[in-house]
Amino acid sequence: MEKNKKKSDFLHIGNKLLKWYDKNARDLPFRNTKDPYKIWICEIVFQQTRIAQGLNHYNNFIKRFPDVQTLASAEEDEVLLYWKGLGYYSRAINIHKASQQIINDYNGIFPSEYEEILKLKGVGKYTAAAVSSICFNGKMPAVDGNFYRVLSRIFADDFDVSNSRAFNYFSQLAHLIMPENVGDFNQAMMDLGSEICKPRNPLCGECPLNIDCLAFSLNKISEFPVKTKKVKATDLELKYYFVHRNGEFLIRQRKDDFIWKKLFEFPLEISDELIPFIKSVKNVHHKLTHKNLSIEIFNVEVYSEEAWKAFIDENDYIITNVENSHEKSFPKPLENYIQKYDVSYKFL
Ligand code: ADE
Repeated sequence: MEKNKKKSDFLHIGNKLLKWYDKNARDLPFRNTKDPYKIWICEIVFQQTRIAQGLNHYNNFIKRFPDVQTLASAEEDEVLLYWKGLGYYSRAINIHKASQQIINDYNGIFPSEYEEILKLKGVGKYTAAAVSSICFNGKMPAVDGNFYRVLSRIFADDFDVSNSRAFNYFSQLAHLIMPENVGDFNQAMMDLGSEICKPRNPLCGECPLNIDCLAFSLNKISEFPVKTKKVKATDLELKYYFVHRNGEFLIRQRKDDFIWKKLFEFPLEISDELIPFIKSVKNVHHKLTHKNLSIEIFNVEVYSEEAWKAFIDENDYIITNVENSHEKSFPKPLENYIQKYDVSYKFL
């Protein structure tokens, strides 16, 4: 960024954005509250999830856990259950831990300073900036992918968004256009980024900032933002054994390291005695952010009561069935597999 960029030359852009937001702000359930607890939850829920996709989850979550006390005193498994379908389960585990931090370290009162909010488990610079600006008149821009995209287009700036310094760089650009009302400004940038200045096919004709946008005036919108480095996903092969008998099957909870923290899964190995009961195998491919999973799920229908009992005795599995398993959270591919398993104990 050239050193000679002055805030006075660009502040009108932020003010225009606020005027647009006054008329066009999306009507969202967390827009009529300044309760930091609710804003925090919504920022975490909607960090990697589209509004339309996550809104029901958000409403259900707030209904069950309306305040930090209720959340902190809940069991982790129940919090995970309410997160079911949103993915990125470590976010739910962190939210739960952070709620206990608020009770223990802050007397149950949500901290109001950016630096303090940042100390909460799972809260990064984006979330701390969003909560402090929306609820406490804090003055930090909530810089995320929307900011990168909008700012790189407005300034036709080719700074690489995959560069580790991108956050600091675009924060400085954000300060150039940022007006006094930072809470509304941050939310206006989120709305503009998701409704108008979209990654593909942006609606430049409707954009309140189009005459200020350098990339638009140069007819180079598609060239911004610049992103060179793709994080390469690694391949991982997994074998699961769906060990079942008379409609019951075996599961256990994962630890909180590696992928799918704290979710439930099928056995990853079986004893030699169960090998003759393997009926079929299903291959599933599943993509996580940095992993391409190739999963084999073996259908092990255990006809022998003796072998079933011996396996259960030797291992620490939970016995469940299709109905009870609805109360547990499974990784998506395993969830899909269970759904294909009919109560008549046959695969559909
Ligand atoms: N996405 C995440 N948080 C948001 C907010 N406060 N407003 C609009 N979109 C969002």
